[in-house]
Formats: sequence, structure tokens, C-alpha cells
Amino acid sequence: MSKFMEWVDARFPATKMWEDHLSKYYAPKNFNFLYFFGSLALLVLVNQIVTGVWLTMSFTPSAEEAFASVEYIMRDVEYGWILRYLHSTGASAFFIVVYLHMFRGLLYGSYQKPRELVWLFGMLIYLALMAEAFMGYLLPWGQMSYWGAQVIISLFGAIPVIGDDLTQWIRGDYLISGITLNRFFALHVIALPIVILGLVVLHILALHEVGSNNPDGVDIKRKKDENGIPLDGIPFHPYYTVKDIVGVVVFLFVFCAVVFFFPEMGGYFLEKPNFEQANAFKTPEHIAPVWYFTPFYAILRAVPDKLFGVIAMGAAIAVLFVLPWLDRSPVRSMRYKGWLSKIWLLVFCIAFVILGVLGVLAPTPGRTLLSQVCTFLYFAYFILMPFYTRLEKTKPVPERVTG
Ligand code: HEM
Repeated sequence: MSKFMEWVDARFPATKMWEDHLSKYYAPKNFNFLYFFGSLALLVLVNQIVTGVWLTMSFTPSAEEAFASVEYIMRDVEYGWILRYLHSTGASAFFIVVYLHMFRGLLYGSYQKPRELVWLFGMLIYLALMAEAFMGYLLPWGQMSYWGAQVIISLFGAIPVIGDDLTQWIRGDYLISGITLNRFFALHVIALPIVILGLVVLHILALHEVGSNNPDGVDIKRKKDENGIPLDGIPFHPYYTVKDIVGVVVFLFVFCAVVFFFPEMGGYFLEKPNFEQANAFKTPEHIAPVWYFTPFYAILRAVPDKLFGVIAMGAAIAVLFVLPWLDRSPVRSMRYKGWLSKIWLLVFCIAFVILGVLGVLAPTPGRTLLSQVCTFLYFAYFILMPFYTRLEKTKPVPERVTG
């Protein structure tokens, strides 16, 4: 074996890569369960790609046959139903895992210097993931696929001057048609997965360049032993490869329970109108995007003017990109930040969840008012951040990680 590895290493840096990224990558020893979600996002990504490839083998991307081909996969293709449920549940699981992964970043200030690029690559992944999910949702050609895409694509029409041409360019037709389905299929199965995979590689390379943060936000590279190894670091392999298996087992237990017993998840993972074929002449009573888009959809609806609604929705995502430069705190982790940061993070999370719920429901005057309040709080968290992070009194950060 060692002779073989010598042969390979003389031609390809296999051992070097293994050591740099696993056996000699020193990660802080105090990772908690919130650090499971990066590896879980990788697991879900692999699940989506593998099940996606197999679904593609039996799916027909045309307006005439797409809906029936999904039914064919569900009923006639051997194990087709499990492939489809793994893929549809995987889409929601992806967002659950990624939202928790991002929350961890907010909690421990992982976006702060020197990890700004880790965060930026993460945000680009998030954008690509939203595009990927949106395009995938049109493919089964159900009522919600059609009308959801109709609502979102028509938003581009609000842009002055170029709006109408732009929507037509996206659809490739005067209305959503088989042409739109075909191009979304190409983007969903080839273009965006390549982009996402590339970004994930950049994300992890950027992280390994600077090293992982941790729940204390302590820089472990500042205290090293005589061999230059961080005193609070442990090799990623075997310590965290083994620890991550615990996260994988717990995750798979819940994930399989959903796949086998509640694949529709009460209409949240697979929406009811989507069991009916797309019909351009029949608008569903209530159009709502899938749950992971609803916080942004609620922000869109909170603003009475269509153009400003679209701008607010775009700004709600764009503001996350500049987060590393809004946080002026001298400390990273919420453990050592002041009470203002803690309260604002809590307010932000509650506002985000309420917006998510409101985005699912049909609007009423009361709900619109609540969504306006939550939209205000959502933005206030970011806009006020440079002030409260500088004003508040922080606690002293320990020299070494705590437990
Ligand atoms: C396909 C989606 C993603 C995958 C596969 C992924 C993967 C990973 C992995 C494996 C790690 C190291 C382990 C860990 O810290 O949990 C990591 C760290 C990190 N990720 Fe992601 N990630 C994804 C999306 C995102 C997004 C959307 C963001 C934020 C916008 C983000 C921000 C971060 C940050 C800040 C870290 C460093 C955390 C720290 O050291 O405390 N990631 N990611």
C-alpha cells in the first residue's frame, strides 16, 4: 500500500490533501452540535445529486409529459417513489440544515475577520441554492409549480424599462410553457449543481485557509505548542469525522421518518395543489411558495408598491452579504457580546420565523401590519448593528477555549 501511495504522491498530492484537510487539519476541540450542520449540508448535497441523477433517468422535461412522468416514477419505476421522496424531502432538509448552519455563524460571529470570504462563498451558495430549488419546483409541472413560477417570474416585470422584456427572456415565451420547463430543467440538472459544487469547494478551501471558528470565538492559532500545533486544536480526522457520524445518524433517523411516513409534511414539503397538473386557465385559490422562501415572500407582500416590494425582498438577501462589515464588535461569540447583541439576534430570529409563517397564510389587514413590523425589525437588526455592537459592553474573552 505504501509503495502504491508513494507512486501516486509522486504524481498527485493525495497524501498532502488528506493531511491538509483531514488528518492534520487542527479544528478547535470545543465544537458543539451546531457544528454538525456543515457536514450535514454536504450529506444532503450528495443525496440531492445522487437521487437527482436517478430521477432524471425517468423524467421527461416537456409540458405534455412532465406531470405524467412523475406519476410514472411514483408508480411504475422500481423504487422510483423512494427516489422522489428522498429528493423532495432533501430539498426541505437542505434549507433546514443551511438555516441552522447560518444561525451558528450569527451566534458565534463566524463571519467576522478573517472569515469574511467563508461567509461570502456561503451566501453565494445560498443564492444558488434558492435558484436551484425554485427551478426544480417547476419540473413536476403541477398547479403550484406553474403558478408559483408565474408569480416569481412576473416580479421581474416590476423593474422599470426592461421589466417586460426581461420576463419574456426568462420564460423564453409569452407565458410559462414547455420552453420554460426545458430551460429550467437544463439549469436545474447541470448548470446550478456545477456552480453549487464549485462554491462548496471554495467555501471549504477558504475555511481551511484561516481555520475554523468555535463557540468561544477564540483564535486557537494564537497559542501553539513547540511543534506549531494549536494547543486547543485536535485533528479533524479521526476526532470530528467520528463525531460527525453522531450528527449523521440522528439526522438520518429524522429524515427517514419523514421520507417514509410524512413525505408531504402536511402540505409543507409537497404542496397539495401540486398533485393536480398545471393548468394555465385555472389559478389556484391561494398561491404560496414552499416554506423556505416564505420569509422573503412575506417581506415582498409587506410593501404595498410592487417595485419597492421587490427591492425590499432583494435587499433582505443582499444585506446578509455585508454582514461581516456591519458587526463592529471587538468579540466574536455571543457568549462574550453584550445584551444588546443578544436581544437583537433573538428579535431577528423571531421576526424571521413570524415572516415565514405569514408568508404561508393568505393576507389580511392584521397580518399585513404584522409583516410590516417584522420586516422593519428584520432590517433594523442589520442597520443598527454597527451602533449596538460598538456601544455595548462586552465580556473579556478567555485566552483558551472553555471546555
Ligand atoms: C451547500 C451548502 C453548504 C455546505 C455544504 C457548507 C459546508 C460547510 C462545512 C463542511 C463547514 C465546516 C464545518 C462547520 O463549521 O459546520 C462550513 C463552515 C462554515 N459555513 Fe458553510 N456550507 C454551506 C452553506 C453555507 C451558507 C449558506 C453560509 C452562510 C451564508 C455558510 C457559512 C459558513 C461559515 C461562516 C462557516 C465557518 C463556521 C465556523 O468556523 O464557525 N455556509 N460550511
